[in-house]
Formats: sequence, C-alpha cells, structure tokens
Amino acid sequence: MSAWIPSIEGALGTRAQAIVDAIGADIGAGRLQAGDRLPPQRDLAEALGLSPNTVMRAYSEATRRGYVVGEVGRGTYVRPADAVPQGNPVALARRLDGPVDLSRGLPFVGAAGDALSATLTEIVRSGDLSALLDHGETWGRHADAGALLLRGLGQAAEAESIVLVNGAQQGISATLLALLRPGDTLLTEQLTYAPLKALAAHLGVRIHALAMDDEGILPDSLEAACRSAAPKLLYCTPTLQTPTTATMSEGRRERIARIAAAHDLVIVEDDVFGCLPESRPLPLAAFAPEHTVLITSVSKSMAPGLRVGYVHAPDRLLPAISAAVAVSSWMSPPLMAEIASRWIEDGTAARLNEAQRSHAARRQDMARELLSGHVHHAQRQGPHVWLVLPEYWTARAFATAAERSGVLVNPAEAFATVTAVPAAVRLCLSHESSDERVRQGLTIVAALLDAPADDHTLTI
Ligand SMILES: Cc1ncc(COP(=O)(O)O)c(C=O)c1O
Repeated sequence: MSAWIPSIEGALGTRAQAIVDAIGADIGAGRLQAGDRLPPQRDLAEALGLSPNTVMRAYSEATRRGYVVGEVGRGTYVRPADAVPQGNPVALARRLDGPVDLSRGLPFVGAAGDALSATLTEIVRSGDLSALLDHGETWGRHADAGALLLRGLGQAAEAESIVLVNGAQQGISATLLALLRPGDTLLTEQLTYAPLKALAAHLGVRIHALAMDDEGILPDSLEAACRSAAPKLLYCTPTLQTPTTATMSEGRRERIARIAAAHDLVIVEDDVFGCLPESRPLPLAAFAPEHTVLITSVSKSMAPGLRVGYVHAPDRLLPAISAAVAVSSWMSPPLMAEIASRWIEDGTAARLNEAQRSHAARRQDMARELLSGHVHHAQRQGPHVWLVLPEYWTARAFATAAERSGVLVNPAEAFATVTAVPAAVRLCLSHESSDERVRQGLTIVAALLDAPADDHTLTI
C-alpha cells in the first residue's frame, strides 16, 4: 500500500490522540489491514508537521490499545488478528508459595465447597437428572432465580428479561459482540476493568475514556463525549468500581442515566461487585431501564468457579444478546445454573455473600492498619485497595520494586484507557488464601512506600 497518512485535520483532542483514533478508525474501516506497516515515526511526523515525540506517544498508545505491535528496529505493524492484545486475561489460579499475589482478584471460596457437596447430594436424590443434560428445559426456572437475585440488588427484574451466561465476563463480551461493530466508539472510565480493553481490541472498537472523580464517571465528560464522539455504548462499573473502588451516589446515577437516555446511548452496567456492600444505591438500570444492560454473576457473592451470570436487558436488545451468547456457547450449563438457582432460593447465596463481606472487612481492617498514613481508597466490604503512590514513584516502578521484594501488585497502566496514567496501584486482598500472606504482602508494600525517595530513584 502507499504510505498511510492519517487524516487528523479538525480532529478533537491532542494530535497524538487524533493519530491513535485514526489508526483505530482505519483498521475498523479496512483501510489498514493486519500486517500493514505504519510509516516510521520520523516520516509521519514530517508528513503531518508534528514533532517525532508526538508520533512516538501516539504509536505507544496504539500499541497499548492493541491496534498495532511494535518491533524495535523493524517498525510498527497493524496487529495480526491472532495476536494477543495487551490486557488479555491471564490464568487466575492461586499460588500457595512464591510472591504474595495482590495483583489478581479471585474472591474468597469460603464455605462454598461444603454447600456444594450438600447441594449435589440433594440434586442426586431429586430423581430424574436428564433435564440437566438437555438444552433449554430448565431455562425458565433458572431465569426466575436470576430475577430474584437482581431484585435483591434493587432492580425490578422479571425472568423474561434475563439471559443466562457463563459468568459476567461472557455477559460483557456477548453484549459488546451483539451491539458493537468494528470502528464503533465505546465509552468507559479512564481507569477500567482490564479485560474490557482486550475485548475492545479483539472487536476492533475504539475506546473513548471518560473523566472520573471519586464517584466514578463525571456527567459533563459523558455529555461532551455523547456530543462529539458518536458513541455506541458506555461500559461502566458504578458499584465498587474497578480499579478505584468508587461507588456512584444515587444522584450521580440519575444524571448519568438521564444523559444516556437523552442521547439514546446504551449503558452496559457491570454490577459484578454489587452484591458486596450491605447497602448500596439502586442500579443505573433502575434509572434508565430502556437503555441499560445490567450484568451480574455469582462469582463475587458465591464462588467464581460456578460460572453463572445473568444479563438483564430491555426487550429490544434481548434477541441480539441471546444470539451472541448462542454463537459463543449456545447456553450456560444447566447443572451449574441449577446449583446457583438452589442457592439463591434456599438462602445459601445470602449466607455465602455474608461470608464474603466479613472476609473482605477483616482484610480491609488489616490494610487500613498497615497502610495508615498513605492515601488509599477502599470500601470495607470490597476486595480491593486503590493505593495512591507518593510523588517519587511511578506505578510501573513501584510494581517492579514490589515484585523484587516479593509481592505482586497491579499498576494503574493495566486499567488505563488514557495516556496520562496516575501513580497508583491496585491491591486485591481476596486472592490469597491466608491472612498471614496478605499481612506479609501489605507490610512489604508499606515499607516500600515509606522508604526515602532517593532509594528508589537510584535503583529503579
Ligand atoms: C469488574 C469485573 N467485571 C466482570 C468480571 C467477571 O466476572 P465473572 O467471574 O462473573 O465472569 C470481573 C471478575 O473479576 C470483574 O472484576
């Protein structure tokens, strides 16, 4: 192909952002194909009348978004469809030794194992199990249980509006697959759930980041994006936001919902942590029921290995979402949904959820004590801590130093959808099985925070 020169005349935002957006748009439109080489940074800078630094920043952001891959000395190429984009989920298995893992977020398993053996015995005794091995027979009953779970979160839900999925992750990917096309714009928080970035790269959609404060998305930022970026969808986590732990107030939810409805924008509300706080605001879906796809699962309240989730959507979106679930997995395994349904109906779910809350509270108390004096955000019944670093640390340098000292943390870069990444790291307190290892990890983190600045600048 002749040298690719993006058209950025009149584009909004910085020149670097305009180049990144143009790369995404041209991939979506087929003007850039997998394997195409982008012009060398210096040549593009000259062609556009920009500094080489600006193009370098644009290429590095395009790499982070998964649009391109860079090879030192060989150039920058449009990412082949089979390459693994950055932020792709990795195996989550817990380790029992080695570095203390505060970087990954599996919930506590607690008493779910005992509950499972009792429930499997009941299922075996219940007679004919063939319905659990067939397609569709148990659908209505399991959607009823999902509706009951969602009503507990404050959503006026009915079984007819629910699609069963294999966890919230499949709910999110099926919804995006159903509602987005390559080149579309997806809005999300400027710090977001890392696998969402990988998913967007797989689907060839552009991410447009929204500014946040300590309640999450700023309504003005959403309004401006709706006016200027022609977005198709907004993905957000209004309760116990990943990674900042922010929870939107009801007033903020009302405003976000009103803006979305006014611009006919679909919200994908990830409420996977919504079960954890004892009291919480109503879901966004309650304020914009015709514009919100509400997604939750049993992972954070009961057990992550059950792989059962629920997507609640307005009638007009349900057929496309159901079709996207069918195309990726046909349906959720009925046996897993049967276990989840029984737990929701007989109170086991509430009991396991309560155990998650007290486990989180115990570890959060430990973090508060060990990190006292350092700026950190957390909610007592949530699994995460968002730790703001002193000014002498960058997030990546801190994560590297922590790893060398025997503890894994997740730097802000993993979640960032903007180039200006805050100096902060996420600590997950639920993944490690033993309190003692978490205490040990937090002690190392606190010591690194307290060490004099010179120690870091010399060694990192
Ligand atoms: C914010 C967020 N959304 C979705 C998921 C996926 O949840 P599930 O295990 O139900 O697929 C997770 C899991 O960690 C998460 O943290």
